[in-house]
Amino acid sequence: MKGFLEDANYSIGLLDEGATLADVIDNCIYEHTHTGKRAFYVGDLGKLVKKNIQWQNVMAPIKPFYPVKCNSTPGVLEILGTLGIGFACSSKSEMALVQDLGISPENIIYTNPCKQASQIKYAAKAGINIMTCDNDIELKKIARSHPNAKLLLHIATEDITADEEMNMKFGTTLKNCRHLMECAKEFGIQIVGVKFHVSNTCKELQTYIHAISDARCVFDMAEEFGFKMDILDIGGGFTGSELQLEEVNHVIRPLLDIYFPKESGVNVIAEPGCYYVSSAFTLAVNIIAKKTECDKLLPSGVEQARNDDEPVFTYYINDGVYGSFASKLSEKLNTIPEVHKKYKEDEPLFTSSLWGPSCDELDQIVENCLLPELSVGDWLIFDNMGSGTLGEQSTFNDYQRPLIYYMMSFSDWDEMQDAGITSDTMKNFFFVPSCIQLSSEDRFSTAA
Ligand SMILES: Cc1ncc(COP(=O)(O)O)c(C=O)c1O
Repeated sequence: MKGFLEDANYSIGLLDEGATLADVIDNCIYEHTHTGKRAFYVGDLGKLVKKNIQWQNVMAPIKPFYPVKCNSTPGVLEILGTLGIGFACSSKSEMALVQDLGISPENIIYTNPCKQASQIKYAAKAGINIMTCDNDIELKKIARSHPNAKLLLHIATEDITADEEMNMKFGTTLKNCRHLMECAKEFGIQIVGVKFHVSNTCKELQTYIHAISDARCVFDMAEEFGFKMDILDIGGGFTGSELQLEEVNHVIRPLLDIYFPKESGVNVIAEPGCYYVSSAFTLAVNIIAKKTECDKLLPSGVEQARNDDEPVFTYYINDGVYGSFASKLSEKLNTIPEVHKKYKEDEPLFTSSLWGPSCDELDQIVENCLLPELSVGDWLIFDNMGSGTLGEQSTFNDYQRPLIYYMMSFSDWDEMQDAGITSDTMKNFFFVPSCIQLSSEDRFSTAA
């Protein structure tokens, strides 16, 4: 085991038998109570290992390419890299991050639908050849900046139930694929496969059936043009639930066996993002200010209190939409926090809203929830915060980024070693036995 602090940048606390995530949070809150009450994450990296085992059990041989934009913290990237997972990058900085981990270019795909020419050139220099494309202007730009690029044509899906607008904005039609193939011939660019993405809010599994059938049509079309295609990318959209993974597998497997059998030589890949990271990270935030609103001043969206005499509370916490809750700006956030301090079961609950620290009207995190009366200095715990929360964040209003504590249970550590990952293969990490000695990672400085 790597023993020297100075060898590594980050630590992972190995939990004693019987110790839980709640113990780690209690311990961190105890420490923070004396040191400024900064918001922090606890990342259970053992969950990533478990998710990967589950993926291999249910989805193999579909190879996962993890979208770095979902959570680019060093712990996540290094664990996933050592597990042999590929990476889907949407920018130069993401490509550089995974290259620094020693990931080979064949295990990196460049998936931004709107790529900057300079970043395509960067990919070309780095030998990252596989990239997605859904229109002729993008294709011409790629042809100029990276003549050796290998394109995956990104086709649109009929994901009409999706909250996010990804599928409406990106992805092309079958008809346009023909046009793109003509352009590719003209510009001497290779097309090597098809990509689609079904959002994780899509409840209609038929969408996969249509998308895989459409992909087959594009493969047939490619043969007419003389392109030898061998990659099918079925995108992300896996929630993290084993049941959903099995349901999707149940729908897609028979179709893949018919349209893309093993003998076809087509490699099926996927881009599971929140599947890996969402449940692995828990965020603890501190209440920094509080208002008791009279009815006239209720924040927008907060319903009138049932009883006019009942107070309505507005709490301000030290993280918001210009930080960990950025996804709140574009999606509905349904998470309600847990109150960390103990309170009696019969304690009255009050209509409450939660706001970030910016004093900006967009910085509302929870519009309306029922909580016991809380005080400035109390802590709230949000779980399932691993996806879309830990990318590059703004420095709006001197926003202080949460610290990150990594942990893993001894049993997950054993499982990881069984999977061939040892402390020697984790270059930037050292392992500390016991959660009490956890040291935090300020990911934006690399000091341990
Ligand atoms: C094109 C594309 N692929 C993959 C993903 C990852 O999706 P998920 O986190 O739902 O797996 C996303 C998420 O935004 C995406 O837009």
